[in-house]
Amino acid sequence: MTDYAEVHLKKNRKEAVEEKSPWIFSGALHAVRNFDEDGQLCHVYLDDRIVATGYINTQTNIAVRVLEFAEVAIDRAFIRNRIETSRAMKETLLQGSSDAYRLIHAEGDLLPGLVVDKYGEYLVLQSSTAGMDLLLDDVVAVLVEVFRPKGILEKSTSSSRRTEGREEVRRVLHGEVPDEVVVSEHGLKYVVDLAGGQKTGFFLDQRENRQIIARHAAGRTALNCYCYSATMGLCMRKAGVGSLNNVDMSAGALALAARNYTLNGIEPAEDEFQAADVNDFLGGMPADYYDLIILDPPKFTASKKTVNNAIKGYKHINMMALRKIKKGGLLFTFSCSGLVDAELFRKIVFYAAKDAGRDVRIVRALSADVDHALSVYHRENEYLKGLMLYVV
Ligand SMILES: C[S@@+](CC[C@H](N)C(=O)[O-])C[C@H]1O[C@@H](n2cnc3c(N)ncnc32)[C@H](O)[C@@H]1O
Repeated sequence: MTDYAEVHLKKNRKEAVEEKSPWIFSGALHAVRNFDEDGQLCHVYLDDRIVATGYINTQTNIAVRVLEFAEVAIDRAFIRNRIETSRAMKETLLQGSSDAYRLIHAEGDLLPGLVVDKYGEYLVLQSSTAGMDLLLDDVVAVLVEVFRPKGILEKSTSSSRRTEGREEVRRVLHGEVPDEVVVSEHGLKYVVDLAGGQKTGFFLDQRENRQIIARHAAGRTALNCYCYSATMGLCMRKAGVGSLNNVDMSAGALALAARNYTLNGIEPAEDEFQAADVNDFLGGMPADYYDLIILDPPKFTASKKTVNNAIKGYKHINMMALRKIKKGGLLFTFSCSGLVDAELFRKIVFYAAKDAGRDVRIVRALSADVDHALSVYHRENEYLKGLMLYVV
């Protein structure tokens, strides 16, 4: 068995393990013994008793990420068990609606630091910690055994790797990986840009929201802001939307969107794709024009220092969008900034409605789809939140 470091907690820090958060902060540590390297597996001791097993990084504020609240061996069998549990849960819940899903959602699937997305016969993996980097050989061996994938791509590019003392990594870990694959979801096909695309290539988290939005789209004049590859637009087209503008400032995203239309045999109208900054586009539209607007912007903040700017940004776009919606219309508004929680987002939207002079009702709270499981004890990866608003 690998040598485990010994992490001894301060006597008054029982809650660090009793509350079962998978993160133990450096302030709770009394001493670290038998330590060789950052990322090393460790046992966590409280009063000379092992209470958890995880991995340690002495350079980061999150000192230990817990894999199990007990003394266990972290080996291939352990990892296989975690991966098979997640697979069974997700395939059962998704009921064959898609061949693309998030297999491992880090802490939410009790494998901190690891994201694995499945796109048909290919897997894309992201490690965000030194500890997960050291477990990757076992993770890959298990993924190959369980899925027999044609290829596994590692795209470990998150900015948090720098804090962990790790470089960005992009490499093929198994088999061969094409630049793109085509996946199907609820009867539509989408190109996934594995090599160059945003995130691991696709916004899997919005799967269910695409369906919810489409249910309200028939006959409406709709605007899909920050559309990326126009997945939400295509769902609305399939549902018989009246007219549609898909807006994104990235030419690459719109090129992908156009290919998705072709792939599904749908002919875009002349003004259906708009390469523009959403702020400018919304600013140029008349008030009371749309029946349905979607706002799904990129993450506005990744640091506590810039949360205030993010709040202003969210408020501004929501206020602008609400002014352009007719009475009886709908706004689907999202934030994927983990630092803006659901309560704060709701307040921002409230102030946006107030300043836009619009009376709105929240008719539905929205979140990431079921394959983005969350730990009951850990709110930090609850990043995607949204509201469906009815304009009275
Ligand atoms: C979170 S993604 C949208 C995902 C999309 N709704 C989906 O479900 O696939 C955000 C998109 O916003 C675009 N973007 C970022 N800033 C923008 C801006 N100011 N105006 C227009 N598009 C922008 C990015 O190019 C990216 O495609």
